[in-house]
Amino acid sequence: MADCFVTRALPGDALERLAHSHHVRVHPGDAPPTRVEVEEGVRDADGLLCMLTDRVDAALLAAAPRLRAIANYAVGSDNIDLEDAAARGIAVGVTPDVLTDATADLAFALLLAAARRLPEAAADVRAGRWQTWEPQGWLGVDVHGATLVIVGPGRIGRAMAERTAGFAMRVITVGRDDDLHAALGQADAVSLHAPLTPATHHLIDDAALAATKPGAILVNTARGGLVDQAALARALHDHRLFAAALDVTDPEPLPPDDPLLAAPNVLVVPHIGSATRTTRARMADLAVDNLLAGLDGRPMPHPASP
Ligand code: DGY
Repeated sequence: MADCFVTRALPGDALERLAHSHHVRVHPGDAPPTRVEVEEGVRDADGLLCMLTDRVDAALLAAAPRLRAIANYAVGSDNIDLEDAAARGIAVGVTPDVLTDATADLAFALLLAAARRLPEAAADVRAGRWQTWEPQGWLGVDVHGATLVIVGPGRIGRAMAERTAGFAMRVITVGRDDDLHAALGQADAVSLHAPLTPATHHLIDDAALAATKPGAILVNTARGGLVDQAALARALHDHRLFAAALDVTDPEPLPPDDPLLAAPNVLVVPHIGSATRTTRARMADLAVDNLLAGLDGRPMPHPASP
C-alpha cells in the first residue's frame, strides 16, 4: 500500500477509488496548501495528486525522496518541473480530453459576453441605470461573420473552431510555425489555446497587440503567462482593443487592485474553464487512473508531454 498526498478534496468518488488500494491523505479545506504544507505532505509520499496551483519544482521533488508518481489535476503541466521529475524517474500524468468541451464552451461564452458587453449591461440593470431603451446604449460588436484567430491548434483550439459553425465566422488557426502577427492583423477576435512554455511566454506582447486589427477582442482560457498584462492594459486604455475576456491571469488570483482590472472593457473570471460538475469529476477519474498506474509501475494512461 502506497502513501498518497492529495492537495485538495475533489468532486466525484475518484479519491474513494484511490483509497481502496492506497493510504490517502487529503489536504483539508478549499484553500491551497502552503508551500510548507506541500513539503510536509510529500516528505513520505509515494504518490502526489496536485493542482495547477501547486508549484512542483526541483526543490520540492528533492524533498520527496520516495515520490514515484505525480498526477496533475489539469491538462496543463507548466506548474511541474517535468525535466527534473523525469531525471528522478517520477512519472507525471495530466487530464486531457475530458475538459476540452467545457473549456471551449467557456471561451465562446467569454467571446460573446465581451462582444455584447454583457457584464456592463447586467451591472447597469442592477444599479438602476436602465432608464429606457437606448438607440445608442450598450453597443457591442458582431460575433457572427467575424474573423476569429485561434492561437494553438490543439484539442481545445479545434473545439473552439467547431463552435463558430453556427456564427458564420472565418477561422484562422495559428500554430507554432505560422505567422502570428500576420494573422492578428486580420482578427476581429483572438482566442488563445496554446500551452505555456518558455517559447509562448508573453506571446501577446506590445508588438503582437500593435499588429492586431484595431477593435479586436482578446479571449484567454489557456494560461495567464501567454499575455503581457501591462501591454494588454495599455491596449485597452488606448482603445486599440475593443475588449479582453480572461479566464486566466498572471498571477492567479489577480489582486483586486491589479492595474489590469482598472482597464476599460476587461472581463476576468476565476479560471473556471473546466468548472462543470461532470468535467471536474472526470478529471478526478483521470488523475486517479494516472496515479494508480504510476504507483503500480505501469505506464500512465495520460502522461504529461514535455
Ligand atoms: C487545465 O486543466 O490546465 C485547466 O487550466 C484547468 O482545468
